Amino acid sequence: MKPSLDELRRKTSAKWTVYDPDVIPAWVADMDFELAPPVRAALDAQLARHDLGYPQMYERAGLAELFCARAADRYAWQIAPGDVEFFSDVVQTIYLCLMTLSEPGDGVLIQTPIYPPFLHAVDETGRRPLLCPLVRGAARYEIDVAALDAAARGARVLLLCHPHNPTGRAYTRDELTALAEIALRHDLIVISDEIHADLMLDERRHVPFASLGPDIAARTITLTAASKAFNIAGLCLACAVFGSASLRARFATLPGHVRGGRSTLGMTAAAAAWRDGGPWLEDTLAILRANRATLAAHVARDWPAIHHFPPEATYLGWLDCRALDLGEEPHRFFLREARVALGEGPSFGPPGAGCVRVNFGTTPDILNEVLARMSEALARRS
Ligand SMILES: Cc1ncc(COP(=O)(O)O)c(C=O)c1O
Repeated sequence: MKPSLDELRRKTSAKWTVYDPDVIPAWVADMDFELAPPVRAALDAQLARHDLGYPQMYERAGLAELFCARAADRYAWQIAPGDVEFFSDVVQTIYLCLMTLSEPGDGVLIQTPIYPPFLHAVDETGRRPLLCPLVRGAARYEIDVAALDAAARGARVLLLCHPHNPTGRAYTRDELTALAEIALRHDLIVISDEIHADLMLDERRHVPFASLGPDIAARTITLTAASKAFNIAGLCLACAVFGSASLRARFATLPGHVRGGRSTLGMTAAAAAWRDGGPWLEDTLAILRANRATLAAHVARDWPAIHHFPPEATYLGWLDCRALDLGEEPHRFFLREARVALGEGPSFGPPGAGCVRVNFGTTPDILNEVLARMSEALARRS
């Protein structure tokens, strides 16, 4: 579980190759841990068989059954394997949902700041973004329900991110119920990206939006993957749960090949993760909880001008640096002065200006080095 910086720098993934070698990357949402042993073993066995032909039909692989059994067990969410389909990427599937379930010019509600591809997907498909900023509450970012309700009048789709990237909010049942009422009142289709669902950091259990009731399920497509929690994004396998036959039928107007293929290694890895990855995930969550506490303590002690709510889920910390008055975007400052690459706030929509996202899905040593470098850069400035 504890690769060193030198070992990590040998990786070929985007996280470790975009910046110069003296920069510590804490930007893209990949973690730095070793693979879960069952995932590694399943991949090794497949390679040992030289078994990289076209993947078997996932219906035969039992992947949907496995996903549904786990959803029932982990989230008390009862879904049928026949409503589950597998794709390549969650983001790609967001585009496909927008293209098949809405019309050009339709309004799409998005809670900002937001994972940047949400904004790109709406823009690039010619839909109309209706941005509803989360607001700073006493202890967490909150939904401005009245503002969202007002914006929903011009909307066709709610593009939900739950848990929310970048704030790490895991919406409560009450908050989700408020969103559900809005969706019902305004007859919205809900695309619910729940890719971070397995990364809940508190005792609370993830509540799938579609699990709120049959009338909500019927208007919701839930998108998820094993990729965030098990750190296998490069294997490209995503999962969609269609809450009604009519949504599925509209989606199916898209020719099958436009959806792309499913990676054989991705299917193998997801099956192993979902079947046997539980103990590894628990160990990983314990590290993430400790790292979350390290980050929060560091901000409280060293950075009085930076605002931060510890996330309830994900391994991403959102730092509002506006009060630092850096005179430039903080990601630029920290890249140049600290040699740390952070998520670039403005790419998360207008409320992201002056903010950065730090990825703490790394070893405690590397996280401490990231925080120390950032503190030293700020100290040199004053
Ligand atoms: C909310 C959210 N959705 C989707 C993705 C990416 O999913 P995929 O690689 O399957 O497109 C990420 C990656 O960080 C994410 O945070």
